[in-house]
Amino acid sequence: MDPNLQLYRASILHFPTSTASPELEFCYFSDGYMVTRNGKIEDLGNFKHLPSEYRELKCVDYTGMLLLPGLIDSHVHFPQTEMIASFGEQLLEWLQNYTFPTEQKFEDEQYAANISNLFLNQLLSNGTTSALVYSTVHKAATDALFEQARNLNMCLAAGKVCMDRNCPPELQDTVQSAQVDSAALIEKWHGNGRLLYALTPRFAPTSSPEQLSALGELAKQYPDVFIQTHLSENKNEIAWVKSLYPEFTHYLDVYDYFGLVRNRSVFGHCLHLLPYEWELLKSAGATVAFCPSSNLFLGSGLFDLEEARQHKVNIALASDVGAGTTFNMLRVQGEAYKVSQLNHSKLSPLEGLYMMTQGAAVALGLDSSIGNLNVGTDADFILLDPKFNQLSQLRTANVYEGDQIDQPSDLIFALSMLADERTIHATYVAGERVYQNTQGERR
Ligand code: GUN
Ligand code: ZN
Repeated sequence: MDPNLQLYRASILHFPTSTASPELEFCYFSDGYMVTRNGKIEDLGNFKHLPSEYRELKCVDYTGMLLLPGLIDSHVHFPQTEMIASFGEQLLEWLQNYTFPTEQKFEDEQYAANISNLFLNQLLSNGTTSALVYSTVHKAATDALFEQARNLNMCLAAGKVCMDRNCPPELQDTVQSAQVDSAALIEKWHGNGRLLYALTPRFAPTSSPEQLSALGELAKQYPDVFIQTHLSENKNEIAWVKSLYPEFTHYLDVYDYFGLVRNRSVFGHCLHLLPYEWELLKSAGATVAFCPSSNLFLGSGLFDLEEARQHKVNIALASDVGAGTTFNMLRVQGEAYKVSQLNHSKLSPLEGLYMMTQGAAVALGLDSSIGNLNVGTDADFILLDPKFNQLSQLRTANVYEGDQIDQPSDLIFALSMLADERTIHATYVAGERVYQNTQGERR
């Protein structure tokens, strides 16, 4: 037997293709097997039909649990881990009072390394195996994050924040240093292992036109790097952009003018867009990061999922920690459902799951390696334990037929409301188990 083969048994759910109908186009095995080899998915199917060549393998038996692709968080700030749940402000005051003072600490490289470690542990213990991450303005802090993600062999995209105005002097870079540091980080990290780079102007108010232009040049020079920034999150922010960039009609025009709206551009929030902006996002192939937990926490507004759907814009779910109040993407999905309820619209459990697995991967152009369990992709996957506590055990008893889960959609929905750090039983990155829950109530 090939010693590099690993066999798993569980209920297995994923979305193999890009789809506008995740409720219809999913792949599910209530009693499934998955085989991995050297960090990649080798085979997948119904355990009853396990091919004879695998029958001698030792089986890691997760019967009664749900195996999913690793979750993707499409917008999260690693330096804001320690300031999660800070009281009382809306966006611009929150940035001044909490965010900027916290981000100044990351000038200390060792401090940045410590928080990187804690941050990556939070992702993995919550079932997130890939993320699009904002660092601080500091190059060394960004290196520290990349180094640790590299050691874990994670598929992670991140970028040094660029801002040359309207923030404390300690956090300001310049047109020149933003361009030089970003280019150096791209050369060092983009395509290094599974790592990827994201050009990261914080948002239009903290970048001069000259800085956005310099980053637009880099975007042209490196057409496959990501671009991430914030867009139309808060009404005062939008008015501020209008006063700083009076010659532009729409907020998104500012980014577009400087060449920052394209495929692999990811715009956080997008709460107050005009139809023209939705159309521009669609025609550019850009992605919206829907951050419901953050939007509720900062009182920013309700994301219009119907509008996004109608314009067929790519949507990816995101925690936006530290304005978001949880790293747990299942809980983020639960918040997205509640936002939709307030808008008299519906987010189905499978559509929610799609937006943090295959839908996000397709939007980011990464679905040949993450977001699904197709043969040949990287073996990033998680196990959900429906019986992680007494309440969830009681609530999810109905989803079982014997030992097997036969109602995965209802299970996902229940867990999107009830999940906590015990829900994730194990997390695997490139075939290696990088996290296992040892504190659940499960006996
Ligand atoms: N807009 C500009 N910077 C930030 C940030 O750090 N968090 C959020 N939620 N919005 C922003
Ligand atoms: Zn953000």
